[in-house]
Amino acid sequence: MSTLSHIQEIIQDVYEKYKDINEGEVATYIPELAKADPDHFGIALATVDGLVCSAGDAQREFTIQSICKPFAFQMALEEFGRDRTLEHVGVEPSGDAFNSIELEPKTMRPYNAMINAGAIAIASMIKGKSPESGVREFVEKMGLAAGRELRIDQSVYASEDATGHRNRAIAYLMLNCGIIDPGVEHTLHQYFSQCSLLVTAQDLAIMSATLANMGANPVTQERVFDFNFIKDTLTVMFTCGLYDHAGEWAYRVGLPAKSGVGGGIIAVVNRQLGIAVYSPRLDSKGNSVRGILACKELASHLGLHAFEFTNVGSNFMQWLGS
Ligand code: DON
Repeated sequence: MSTLSHIQEIIQDVYEKYKDINEGEVATYIPELAKADPDHFGIALATVDGLVCSAGDAQREFTIQSICKPFAFQMALEEFGRDRTLEHVGVEPSGDAFNSIELEPKTMRPYNAMINAGAIAIASMIKGKSPESGVREFVEKMGLAAGRELRIDQSVYASEDATGHRNRAIAYLMLNCGIIDPGVEHTLHQYFSQCSLLVTAQDLAIMSATLANMGANPVTQERVFDFNFIKDTLTVMFTCGLYDHAGEWAYRVGLPAKSGVGGGIIAVVNRQLGIAVYSPRLDSKGNSVRGILACKELASHLGLHAFEFTNVGSNFMQWLGS
């Protein structure tokens, strides 16, 4: 059996195993997200060799939501370097919900770039000279990572902008504390636009594989991210990517990851592959129920946990070749 059909079979099995699970609720706090079909379910996997395979609704578009956060963090690190970026955001897990209103008591920085406060601070850094240019740069970079042209869902953007009072409160609190500059509406435009980027599970798998592949898109071979900062991004994803579920995730799945309230979830196996799942039914912490189940299954079946005793760095690829 070829490597591709071998992976395809594994993905299909995981899809079949969880397709009838219907626990969890679609996000409604952003009214436009409530329109998602709760039954959609797609899984995609991309390897650093450029193999891509998928099952179910992996070609269906949805908004990236919080999965934009590690990529925006990476962009800030690349543009401003480590020291300047860390003046605006910490690298400490908060253990709290994604939208919690809290800052580190001593520095007044948000705890990390994966929670809303941190992502808004990062959006303030990368927002560019004009609202159009900052968003364009982000969309173009994500398009390079996905290997196709991407666009913003303007209805979701408008819905977030109209109802994002809590994010506005967080932004103004950070303005008061000197963490972000006075261009608060410009910053929120950048943040809401980033969250409203339309992607598919297949796009996200390739974007994750681009992180795994030292910053080069494994399908197009285009160099997208500066590999000097990928370890920063993956570390924060590992410790903070699942918010108040991060410890449980690190224990059970053991991979750098990020979830979004659109129903997406990504996991990165460094130097090996990227996984993405789309299923809009969320648990009480805002993470995709079937997304977590599918990632857990793939990680345990393929021995992907970072501290798996048998995982010597390329276990998965060796296993496929055997
Ligand atoms: O800031 C918000 O509320 C959303 N645009 C993104 C939140 C999100 O995806 C949280 N993730 N699980």
